[in-house]
Amino acid sequence: MAGTFITFEGPDGAGKTSVLAALIPQLAAHLTRPVRLTREPGGAQLSEKIRELILDPANTAMDARTEALLYAASRRQHLVEVIEPALEAGDVVVCDRFVDSSVAYQGAGRQIGEAAVLAMNQFATGGRTPDLTIYLDVPSAVGLARIQAHRSDRQYDRLDQESQAFHERVRAAYLRLAEQDPARIRTIDATQPMAEVVAACLAALHVYLADDWQANA
Ligand code: TYD
Repeated sequence: MAGTFITFEGPDGAGKTSVLAALIPQLAAHLTRPVRLTREPGGAQLSEKIRELILDPANTAMDARTEALLYAASRRQHLVEVIEPALEAGDVVVCDRFVDSSVAYQGAGRQIGEAAVLAMNQFATGGRTPDLTIYLDVPSAVGLARIQAHRSDRQYDRLDQESQAFHERVRAAYLRLAEQDPARIRTIDATQPMAEVVAACLAALHVYLADDWQANA
């Protein structure tokens, strides 16, 4: 039985991590298949080590292409060790960020080229594409304000330190990706209150996973 590969995407401050924490138990309660939550960068032992390298605020000398290659290397390991085996077992795999993050952050944010980053990632993933992607959209100013407000209870990493212009480019790239591939990418307005964002995500997943959905969960 083939599994289902679902990814969550969004600019910094979209609330992706909190939304997923609330959403996953609700999703799991509606499905008979196991739901496996994982994240990038990281998700496997070697991939978590690469994550530490990439996000360490001390690594200010990291070249943009080096960074893109490290994300792709981390992704490859995570894919073969965690995602592919779970999909082969028939699970619903929910991954917090995937290739779209690299296209948006490295391709557009760091301006090394969206097409080049996509091609490099196709090598890393062997062309594995999510079945469904939920994109949590927030304007950069809103996302950045949320990060500032939660600074004390969150690690302020190297990528959070980027300029507003960087974050604007990231969001614009996400919006372009969503426009180009509406069959795969569902956009949800993440400026809404958290409970509404979670409900909208669940509704989108219900539509996609209708055949597996247990109503009285
Ligand atoms: P993450 O831990 O998902 O942070 P958040 O909770 O804010 O989503 O991701 C950390 C950072 O890594 C985030 O700023 C986005 C960045 N990133 C990339 O630049 N490229 C990538 O390919 C991935 C997966 C993440």
